[in-house]
Amino acid sequence: MFEHIAPYAGDPILGLMEKFTQDARTDKVNLGVGIYYDEAGKIPVLSSVRIAQERVFAAHTATSYLPIEGDRIYRSQVAALLFGGDVESLTDSLAVVQTVGGSGALKVGADFLNRNFSSSSVYVSEPTWDNHIGIFEGAGFNVGQYRYYDAPTKGLDLQGMLEDLNKLKRHDIVLLHPCCHNPTGVDPDHRQWSQILDVVQQRELIPFVDIAYQGFAASITEDAFVIRELARRKMNFLVSSTFSKTFSLYGERCGALTVHCAEPIQTANVLGQLKFTVRRNYSSPPTHGMRLIVTVLSDPSLRAMWAEELESMRTRIVTMRGKLCTALSLAVPSRSFAHVAEQRGMFAYTGLTQTEVAALQSEFSVYVVSTGRICIAGLNNGNVDYVAQAIASVVK
Ligand code: LMR
Repeated sequence: MFEHIAPYAGDPILGLMEKFTQDARTDKVNLGVGIYYDEAGKIPVLSSVRIAQERVFAAHTATSYLPIEGDRIYRSQVAALLFGGDVESLTDSLAVVQTVGGSGALKVGADFLNRNFSSSSVYVSEPTWDNHIGIFEGAGFNVGQYRYYDAPTKGLDLQGMLEDLNKLKRHDIVLLHPCCHNPTGVDPDHRQWSQILDVVQQRELIPFVDIAYQGFAASITEDAFVIRELARRKMNFLVSSTFSKTFSLYGERCGALTVHCAEPIQTANVLGQLKFTVRRNYSSPPTHGMRLIVTVLSDPSLRAMWAEELESMRTRIVTMRGKLCTALSLAVPSRSFAHVAEQRGMFAYTGLTQTEVAALQSEFSVYVVSTGRICIAGLNNGNVDYVAQAIASVVK
């Protein structure tokens, strides 16, 4: 019966994690998956989350099904983080559903759009997170790319991006990374974003903003600039968001899809269609991680503790960027690694070739995504020099 079932080639990111786990070498370093590891090389349990965990367990609350759209307080906290303090005035414009991680939000958004804008195409940055393409193609869309990364300067190809966006047709969907671009770590500045959003607005494209790293580039507020600017312009747009990285709660799959409706009268119908989509996908979202997040964000002192913990994750990454850049510059003086220090968020786009990446893995047990993306958050004082030496050996 299953004779014709094709083998699965494996996922370029999560498949690498499987390989890393199986690697018996003790000096192995995981720079593949986008997970924050602390100085001890462990995924941290944030103190704010640990306290919330104790409170949630002590409460012994029964676990009924959540409403299809998720918990009401969680949804309003998502909106407040994304849209800022004046969220009350925006509530009528926002249809928010709690989702199974950020990927769940992308999937619900993609299905919702495909049902309602079936002749649109989706455009993602070249390059983008690999699964963006998978999720939108899986929902039935043709997925194209717009120019984004400029390999020679290791920066943004703004001109190319604007030219490509200018060719899209009305109601085409444009996937945007508002901060910590995955995989390149190259983000437009405010002026460049204004130019990009001008084109998106003029051509009546549908922005789909995927924010997985709010707080990892500059701050919670600054990293939401694009979202708040789109709202200020009174545009229709979608936002997929996740707490996986910001709360170090990867396995809890806590995400949200938010649709900002320029005409508040349309919000109820949009929310209804999102619920319809969720019911057909996984019925309703899970409770536990949501309860942790609601507990932290509802208590001013826990919230402040969390914000500090997020900030210390961000600054440790910045420190590691600097250390890797210095160590690489010493090990390979003929090359510039300034971009490693300048890029933002969890990732650096090293420019390593597939052959170099393969050699890093086989000879040094350093795991890097085949595109040359490295997760800076996998570095610590104990392994950064080893990684720099390993990279130096394969690029020399
Ligand atoms: C990544 O980009 O490594 C993360 O977002 C994890 C994933 O699901 O790919």
